[in-house]
Amino acid sequence: MFNLVLFGPPGSGKGTQSENIVTTYNLQHISTGDLLRDEVSRHTPLGTEAKKYMDQGMLVPDEVVIGMISGKIDDMPEARGFIFDGFPRTRNQAEALDKLLEFKNTRINLVLSLEVPETDLIKRLVTRGETSGRSDDNEEVITRRIKEYYLKTQPVASYYDNQGKLEHIAGDHPIPETFKTLSKHINKYLLPVA
Ligand code: AP5
Repeated sequence: MFNLVLFGPPGSGKGTQSENIVTTYNLQHISTGDLLRDEVSRHTPLGTEAKKYMDQGMLVPDEVVIGMISGKIDDMPEARGFIFDGFPRTRNQAEALDKLLEFKNTRINLVLSLEVPETDLIKRLVTRGETSGRSDDNEEVITRRIKEYYLKTQPVASYYDNQGKLEHIAGDHPIPETFKTLSKHINKYLLPVA
């Protein structure tokens, strides 16, 4: 099994590149943002609770997110591997993920960190907000999401760096070019299927 964390600030291209990686390497995509938005749209108690944080650009509490991930991994025992997009976002989440994977006799192999200047992140997300319908894609909330990332999530990079798993990727190139760079790293572990 090959497990990848796609790391980076809001708008760095995690979702976009995940789609390419899923197709090329046949990995299962787990995006905590997508899972949470699904809960919100179904008006579940979890979604109602999560929405309060998401609409303010704040992280949803760890225990909510960790519980959701555990069930998802269990749902796909035959997976070739997972790509974690937008998770983990805190040190607590990173440690919980290591424990969950260890329990399944597997582990995170590689962490690819997409790096993009803040001005580009804001431009990309404001533009996306014109059509995305996402309640958090407006400039005020985007700014808070980015702040929250630098405060709580970026420090998680050193957790993986200490394990020798972190690679920094320039994410401010065109989408196909960035994908090529990501692929060079993934190819060291896994052959493409497409
Ligand atoms: P989440 O859904 O994870 O959002 P995010 O991290 O803010 O990321 P985005 O989806 O906005 O950006 P992305 O990096 O995926 O970029 P994308 O490919 O879409 O989280 C939303 C909220 O849920 C959080 O704020 C939090 O409240 C909660 N949450 C989620 N996970 C959580 C967790 N683990 N713990 C606690 N709370 C959690 O691209 C963005 C745009 O840029 C697109 O329009 C795209 O077309 C464009 N683009 C992409 N690449 C390029 C490129 N190379 N050049 C030009 N444009 C590009």
